[in-house]
Amino acid sequence: SAAATAATASSVGMGLVRPALAQDAASFPPDFLWGCSTSSYQIEGAVTVDGRGPSVWDSFSHTPGKVVNGDTGDVACDHYHRYLEDVALMARAGMRGYRFSVAWPRVLPQGVGPVNARGLDFYDRLTDALLARGIQPWACLYHWDLPQALQDKGGWTNRAIADWFAEYALIVAGRLGDRVNHWAMLNEPSVVAFFGHGVGAHAPGLTGRETCIAALHHQNLAQGRALQALRASARKGWQLGTVLTLQPVHPAAGPESERESSEAAARLWDALWNRSCIDPLLKGGYPVALEADFEAVVKPGDLAVMKQPINFLGLNYYSPMYQRRDPGGLFGTNFGGPPEGTPRTGMEWPIQPDGLLHQLRELRDRYGNPPVYVTENGAAFYDWVGPEGKAEDAERIRFIRDHLLAGHAAIKDGVNLKGWFVWTLLDNFEWAEGYHRRFGLVAVDRETMKRTPKASYHWFADTIRRNAVAA
Ligand code: NOJ
Repeated sequence: SAAATAATASSVGMGLVRPALAQDAASFPPDFLWGCSTSSYQIEGAVTVDGRGPSVWDSFSHTPGKVVNGDTGDVACDHYHRYLEDVALMARAGMRGYRFSVAWPRVLPQGVGPVNARGLDFYDRLTDALLARGIQPWACLYHWDLPQALQDKGGWTNRAIADWFAEYALIVAGRLGDRVNHWAMLNEPSVVAFFGHGVGAHAPGLTGRETCIAALHHQNLAQGRALQALRASARKGWQLGTVLTLQPVHPAAGPESERESSEAAARLWDALWNRSCIDPLLKGGYPVALEADFEAVVKPGDLAVMKQPINFLGLNYYSPMYQRRDPGGLFGTNFGGPPEGTPRTGMEWPIQPDGLLHQLRELRDRYGNPPVYVTENGAAFYDWVGPEGKAEDAERIRFIRDHLLAGHAAIKDGVNLKGWFVWTLLDNFEWAEGYHRRFGLVAVDRETMKRTPKASYHWFADTIRRNAVAA
């Protein structure tokens, strides 16, 4: 095939001897963007360095009982001091895109007011290091580490946060926007709303249906305001977007007698988890099933603010979801299990690459086929660095490969999928799960901070080099 010939030719050109790809290797478009994603609190550490203010995740992780093992992000991967080594790891794998998040409390320790230039300096250095290696910086403005000072004023439950966030967005883009072109507003607002403000499993640990809905609406509003503000001051070349988790929702496995109620639960959960994030942005308006809830917080004019043109949509995909009726659940539903025998990752998440294909087709058919990047995909498994300094993580390779093949099928189907960021470069702080759930292509020794690329890292580098997944 042409792809195989091209791959062989370029390998020969590089002086490497490589077997030609199998006939049915899945080749990606020539400009397909390969990279990885991380987030500030999960990798940076250095939480009191250079004037950073405390975030809700500092408070939460230091509250006994909130995070497995009492783990915190105090040190994390010490990326704040080791970013050059980490950028070198990306470069060595051939990655051309890197999505990181900017820690709001580094930039504005009080959330609003005086700017902490030293905090911005870090992202400035990081940006330059990436560009020097030919890696596109993709900055995400909010990946869950809200300044504690803003939480003290109600955080995402306070409508004023739309102004706070837009102001912060302008400050960051004002400093980095001459070099950073790709801007993602939020990361997974439904997780922040439900886990952070609904059931309290994530920071800030609030519970209740009203706070969940308020947090969701105010994130949508803040995102709209920031998109407007950045577009109004846009430099040439800026690409504005956001990052959502969109998961196909199915009725949980269970007795036939529960089938109908589980189907209803799945529809309601889909409305909350998926459509309450994507519909306001791309269609304008909340799903009818939740209108009564949102009525309490939506003000005239909000719908127009939330519906904004975007240049790209970031899709985080790991698994489908299964729901069942539960009168005790926040929305009268709860998580249930997949059909028996469904394989699972180390997070217990069901593995279903077809779900990604389904989700991508939905974006094509129901949301106008926007340019999409998979901004997160990956898996936690239990792998270890052996005495020889090697980490064999065949399960992770299989997981990523199978999802890439689903992405490839989607492109063939006309989905506008333009790139892929693996979650994640380093084993890191997995929120309420602490450090024992590990998603990295690279292992991090918690004592020495030594980085050890796993087999999946080498496999991914090879995939990038071929621009194809061997079938
Ligand atoms: C989604 C989140 O954006 C990220 O922070 C998290 O670590 C991964 N998924 C894995 O759970």
